[in-house]
Amino acid sequence: MQQNEKINKMNKTIILDKRPVGRPQLSDFKFIDEEKPQPGNGEILLKTTYVSVDPYLRGRMIDAKSYAPPFQLQQPISSGIVAEVVESNLAGFSKGDFVSGLLEWKEFQKSDGKGLLKVDPSKAPLSAYLGVLGMTGMTAYLGLTEIGKPQKGETLVVSGAAGAVGSVVGQIGKILGCRVVGIAGTDEKVEMLKAKYGFDEGINYNTTKNMKDAIAAACPDGVDVYFDNVGGEISDGVLANINKFARIIVCGSISVYNETSVPMGPRVEMALVKNSALMQGFIVGNFAPKFPEAIAQLSNWLMEGKLTYTETIVEGFNQIPEAFIGLFEGKNNGKMIVKI
Ligand SMILES: NC(=O)c1ccc[n+]([C@@H]2O[C@H](COP(=O)([O-])OP(=O)(O)OC[C@H]3O[C@@H](n4cnc5c(N)ncnc54)[C@H](OP(=O)(O)O)[C@@H]3O)[C@@H](O)[C@H]2O)c1
Repeated sequence: MQQNEKINKMNKTIILDKRPVGRPQLSDFKFIDEEKPQPGNGEILLKTTYVSVDPYLRGRMIDAKSYAPPFQLQQPISSGIVAEVVESNLAGFSKGDFVSGLLEWKEFQKSDGKGLLKVDPSKAPLSAYLGVLGMTGMTAYLGLTEIGKPQKGETLVVSGAAGAVGSVVGQIGKILGCRVVGIAGTDEKVEMLKAKYGFDEGINYNTTKNMKDAIAAACPDGVDVYFDNVGGEISDGVLANINKFARIIVCGSISVYNETSVPMGPRVEMALVKNSALMQGFIVGNFAPKFPEAIAQLSNWLMEGKLTYTETIVEGFNQIPEAFIGLFEGKNNGKMIVKI
């Protein structure tokens, strides 16, 4: 086989080599070369364009029952991906179309089209379909409006506020007339919450000694809605400040994803009883019938200039594992995406 022909047939793939213990390491992932697939009848060949790396993938890397099945060792990892159709033997898909879906960390893959959504690069940048107009945007909108039900004049606190979900939650809170306080990991991020997204107050949890007092100072009228992306000690401080009939939306707990045993925190039951508060976890998929409504509303706010977003775009297929690990080190502002 000629050298060029061989290179053309190569298809880089990332598999899970070891189950991470603690913070994921580059050595937990392995790059392998597969043969580039040939699409059969009723199939398309996809070329990966943008890859979403997400904190929830960490949960799929351990061998435990959850809402999504664990990744198998020595098998490709999958996540939200935008890809270009480069060959099509499937009605409804043409060469040059772009699609988004849950796909594997491979340069090329074939698909029967099931579960794929066509995305239009003339309506929004392709990467936005993995963020503000994709899973994280819908998580922000649906978690906040369906569970948090924020009312005008209420105080909304958001943890993980400078990230993909949190930055959108805070802005929606402002659109709906709330006073919004965000918690993030650096002074630069806190400044951005206020300057770019219009949050009223920001707290840097890394330089705050007493989160309970910091929240009390930033929320003089108490906390009505708490959108929690991080859990742990940050949430302990927020929960100590909730108002009567507060709504606590448990979206994620990134601060404990790398723990080998779940750390013990204050017991929250009495705070919930005393305040007749609601605390509810959710998975965005719970609201699947409302996805079109969420996308339509987010698109309108973007077009009206009421909503903005930030992306941290890392370039190169080889950078996918590092970008994923970077989520646990706060390396992203807004949505972390890898451009291939
Ligand atoms: N329920 C659902 O359906 C659903 C859907 C999507 C996402 N989620 C969850 O929502 C949360 C946010 O996801 P995302 O995609 O928007 O990620 P993201 O916030 O864009 O990225 C992760 C951010 O978490 C922060 N972080 C990392 N380690 C932390 C720690 N130990 N303590 C506090 N903050 C930490 C970092 O920001 P700092 O620099 O501020 O620390 C980092 O930038 C995650 O918990 C995720 O699992 C849930």
